[in-house]
Amino acid sequence: MDMNKTCAVITGGASGLGEATARVFAEAGAKVTLLDRDTTRGPQVAAELGGTFVETDVTDEASVQAALSAAKEAMGGLNAAVNCAGIAIAETTLKKDDGIHSLESYRKVIDVNLTGTFNIARLAADAMKDNAPEPDGNRGVIINTASIAAFDGQRGQAAYASSKGGVVGLTLPLARDLARNGIRVMTIAPGIFMTPMLAGLPQEAQDSLAASVTNPKRLGDPREYGRLAKFIVECGYLNGETIRIDGALRMM
Ligand SMILES: NC(=O)c1ccc[n+]([C@@H]2O[C@H](COP(=O)([O-])OP(=O)(O)OC[C@H]3O[C@@H](n4cnc5c(N)ncnc54)[C@H](O)[C@@H]3O)[C@@H](O)[C@H]2O)c1
Repeated sequence: MDMNKTCAVITGGASGLGEATARVFAEAGAKVTLLDRDTTRGPQVAAELGGTFVETDVTDEASVQAALSAAKEAMGGLNAAVNCAGIAIAETTLKKDDGIHSLESYRKVIDVNLTGTFNIARLAADAMKDNAPEPDGNRGVIINTASIAAFDGQRGQAAYASSKGGVVGLTLPLARDLARNGIRVMTIAPGIFMTPMLAGLPQEAQDSLAASVTNPKRLGDPREYGRLAKFIVECGYLNGETIRIDGALRMM
């Protein structure tokens, strides 16, 4: 799909990987709408990019329905959805002080990262299904964000890794379900990227994380994620797969 013809919603577009994706897409000529619950930074980023911001909770059906309608109207269409909204917690199953992993926090992470991703995917697919097809029948693309924690989850990542493993598992059946509608589904599994979350860590901690990457020995630049998402939009033969972008990092 040509970026000049791309009308994309980007969840989590107010920060980090979603924001970088919105910037890369807009610079390449795409129309962008940022869906985020951050009502401070979201509108600022959207204004900078000549795009639109819609306050959205990805876990909520009515909120996403309204956001997608608003986005479609603002952009004159919708043919790409990038799922970057997400949360991370660190909590062990049995804690040092005898506590047990909270079920509420587990459910919350699954709700935002996994159910939120599916909520956007199913409703965005419905909004794309009547698009005029490209010559090869493609009508749109959905890009999800997992994590290498889906494969190499660490101590304290039971909830996060479950949610991201779910996103990986969702990718192929969703691509198969939506094949008859001409909608592709891809997932990106990032390693460690320099987003606001990591920029807040002490330099020493950042250096140690960078040293753990196989090659190159640095954290990922969010724009590298955005460029991969752009390539997925442009390359119509990519479908039903998860791509790791991690400098060959394998967490032990
Ligand atoms: N940064 C990394 O190193 C890294 C690595 C692997 C995977 N990821 C994944 O990439 C995605 C983006 O991460 P990031 O580092 O850019 O995080 P970030 O915290 O910078 O951005 C996440 C955005 O999602 C939004 N959000 C959270 N819950 C929401 C909800 N219910 N509805 C709407 N918006 C919501 C937040 O407001 C925020 O703007 C996440 O899914 C994260 O798990 C990040």
